[in-house]
Amino acid sequence: MRVRDLRMAGAVALVIMMGLPAAGVPVAAQQSATTLREPDVIYVPTPEEVVDAMLAMASVRAKDVVYDLGSGDGRIPIRAAEKYGARGVGIDINPVRIKEANENLAKTKVGDKVKFLNQDLFETDLSEATVVTLYLLDTLNLKLMPKLKALRKGTRIVSHSFDMGEWPPEKTQKVNGRTIYYWTIK
Ligand SMILES: C[S@@+](CC[C@H](N)C(=O)[O-])C[C@H]1O[C@@H](n2cnc3c(N)ncnc32)[C@H](O)[C@@H]1O
Repeated sequence: MRVRDLRMAGAVALVIMMGLPAAGVPVAAQQSATTLREPDVIYVPTPEEVVDAMLAMASVRAKDVVYDLGSGDGRIPIRAAEKYGARGVGIDINPVRIKEANENLAKTKVGDKVKFLNQDLFETDLSEATVVTLYLLDTLNLKLMPKLKALRKGTRIVSHSFDMGEWPPEKTQKVNGRTIYYWTIK
């Protein structure tokens, strides 16, 4: 997804946040009573080939614990467990996404390796993460940067489409027109 497209998606999210009808979907259908607060960015899935490239870029292994911050339908943690035997944790503020992710997990054989938590990613304890994946927004990456930099030495970060401003990535890669970025915590 291009930056412009995701910004457009953000505008749609704003419409939803303002309580106006968006694409005929009632707000109540998107957000249940257990919603913590409105999402900072709407759900747009990472294409599967980009998911695979992100996990490969981070050299995910069975011993890793992969946190996807804003995990949507759960595809990144589930793929990390299925392809590499890693543990996966998905964090999403939207309970509808958590329900979808758990339904997708139930169709796999890695239910014991993956969990989804209905939390605000800015409040989540990331201390056990060895890999963090992101597909958020440039502004959210910048807000998250201090929390990421406080992670243990060697933790790998991969972001789809959005960089970290003045924190230069160690690697970048183009995948079907998408850019992915990689950092390690020093
Ligand atoms: C662009 S989607 C990315 C989904 C998934 N990571 C992927 O790459 O396919 C962003 C997700 O972040 C979630 N989200 C937005 N703000 C959040 C917050 N503050 N805490 C947790 N999740 C959030 C949204 O509900 C949405 O599912």
